[in-house]
Amino acid sequence: MKILVLHGPNLNMLGIREPGIYGDETLDTINDKILAYAATKNYSLEVEFFQSNHEGVLIDRIHAGFNDGVSGIVINPGGLTHTSVALRDAISAVHIPTVEVHLSNVHARESFRHHSYIAPVAIGQIAGFGSTGYLMALDGLLSCLSYE
Ligand code: DQA
Repeated sequence: MKILVLHGPNLNMLGIREPGIYGDETLDTINDKILAYAATKNYSLEVEFFQSNHEGVLIDRIHAGFNDGVSGIVINPGGLTHTSVALRDAISAVHIPTVEVHLSNVHARESFRHHSYIAPVAIGQIAGFGSTGYLMALDGLLSCLSYE
């Protein structure tokens, strides 16, 4: 089963970017953690990672995931969470179960971070648990896909 993990704008800067908010792990470290966690599952999971700072490139990757038979998506849309109708429409168009993740607790931050265009088309949202949130998202996704 293929799972696509998508990281939006500025997440390539993790480790450098506001460590007091986002922690000091790099994106590579987080991806390795997700991969190691996926390997503990007793069925075969193919996890693909993709990061882009560009809305349209992320949308193209979601469409490609659909054509490629991706079963589930874990996405941290970064700032696009709060602005992108187009990203939301892409998720809604492909009908691939999607979990939204945020490292920080967006609801405890500035009010412009409280609204998510993605949440209504996601099966769930996890925020505030740092990189552990990605592992929680994977478990949530697998349970929705009836793998756990
Ligand atoms: C974020 C929260 C967003 O508000 C912000 O724009 C990000 C990161 C998070 O992981 O906490 O880029 O998605």
